[in-house]
Amino acid sequence: MAKLEVLKYPEKSLKEPSEPVKEVTEEHRQLFQDMIETMYLSHGLGLAAPQVGLNITLFVMDVARPNPLDEENPISNPLCLINPKIIEKSDETIIYEEGCLSCPDLLVDVKRSKAVVVEALNEKGELITHNFTELEAVCAQHEMDHLQGTLLTDQISRLKRELYRKKRMRLKKEEEESFDSNLL
Ligand code: NI
Repeated sequence: MAKLEVLKYPEKSLKEPSEPVKEVTEEHRQLFQDMIETMYLSHGLGLAAPQVGLNITLFVMDVARPNPLDEENPISNPLCLINPKIIEKSDETIIYEEGCLSCPDLLVDVKRSKAVVVEALNEKGELITHNFTELEAVCAQHEMDHLQGTLLTDQISRLKRELYRKKRMRLKKEEEESFDSNLL
């Protein structure tokens, strides 16, 4: 397994829609392993392929916040969803304060369906129907937004977005500069 680099806003490819997976292969299964490890190491509840630079429609999630790398709490139940589709959603909504590994230091109240039925292929290529409620439903809808190129930054006002973009650009520049100064 390997930890992957998580792309951050305003990386352009995060805003692009992803392409469906035609056939589930060994490469996808390897990618899932790496994405799951990256998700746990980053303390995320979910991670979508565009966040690791691949614009294909798949994501991983595990809202139980387990950490298999933690010897005291190794229990985990990660889900891998390929070409996910919402086939049913509740009228009842839920508002949850969401964060995103691709949008550091940004928390946004987002209103979503409280329950969703999602159809997707699993890592073996089998079609599975998932009934998600509460936090699982929030997480699945957030990850599926990523597959369409929608980010938390699309849920805030234009002014806030512009301020956030400038802040991210400044921090990115600072990171690059501090990296340069360490080159001996
Ligand atoms: Ni996210």
